[in-house]
Amino acid sequence: MIAKIQELLAEVEQLQAANAEEVEALRIKYLSKKGAINDLMADFRNVPAEMKKEVGMKLNELKTKAQEKIAALKEMVDTQEGGNDDLDLTRTAYPISLGTRHPLTIVKNEIVDIFSRLGFTLAEGPEIEDDWHVYSSMNFADDHPARDMQDTFFVEARPDIVLRSHTSSVQARVMEKQQPPIRVICPGRVYRNEAISASAHCFFHQVEGLYIDKNVSFTDLKQVLLLFAQEMFGKDTQIRLRPSYFPFTEPSAEMDISCNICGGKGCSFCKHTGWVEILGCGMVDPAVLEANGIDSTIYTGYAFGMGVERITNLKYQVKDLRMFSENDTRFLDEFTAAN
Ligand code: PHE
Repeated sequence: MIAKIQELLAEVEQLQAANAEEVEALRIKYLSKKGAINDLMADFRNVPAEMKKEVGMKLNELKTKAQEKIAALKEMVDTQEGGNDDLDLTRTAYPISLGTRHPLTIVKNEIVDIFSRLGFTLAEGPEIEDDWHVYSSMNFADDHPARDMQDTFFVEARPDIVLRSHTSSVQARVMEKQQPPIRVICPGRVYRNEAISASAHCFFHQVEGLYIDKNVSFTDLKQVLLLFAQEMFGKDTQIRLRPSYFPFTEPSAEMDISCNICGGKGCSFCKHTGWVEILGCGMVDPAVLEANGIDSTIYTGYAFGMGVERITNLKYQVKDLRMFSENDTRFLDEFTAAN
């Protein structure tokens, strides 16, 4: 056996190869499972006990030599053949972690996508707005509590300039420029002067929709919102509308969906009611149409507005609103698959 090992050692020293195929053939001949060295390894158990040590060392030496020689030959033919095409020396040695889209962006895009398929086009407006677009044109009486310091951030020294507290201001900006038919979806960030906690923040995101044309009815609104809820939360989702009040819509409603976490059976998220509120909506108040230059004797319309954080919480069960703006990558990385 020792003689055989010596013979192979001498052979290995002399190996030559002209190209990658030849190197591979050598690897198979010597190093593969059925190769010469493995055959010897298999015979090893027949070696008498007193010789095992010496033969074992020689065998190991042979194996290492063969591995080194064949690796060296491989490197040689690789460089001769112009190097390995897959080798990019400019690449960093560490795995690059790719960024993810922010969960709010993912959900906002999904909302916009659903309404785009229904023919809504995108409209955007400024976050620093004047009182007219945020409040007056939206039929807020001068003494409406929403204008109160509690809710609105005023720009210092300019009481008529505010950080918009809802995206309804974009409705006003669209109406002043365009006559019906109007069918827009307005996503954007809004600001409210609230103490920051797990369930409230001084800024959040809304998506608002507006549709104005001849003969637009509450039925149209309900149908579009049902379709939205089912696209967003699944085909079995149910909706219910509860009467409500907004200055800019009449009649107004708040919409609940059947709780998608417990399937309507009742859980802590829906406070055991089986329903969760997701948006406000209603028929555009004729006073709003008139204030924005649209003839309310010819046209009617509906509007709705929802919070992106709320929808995201429902989809992904995020328990604390603050996580959305802390930029903790451990949280953000969880949304890689949703991108
Ligand atoms: N602007 C309302 C809010 O911020 C939402 C809403 C929009 C309600 C459109 C009805 C119609 O709460």
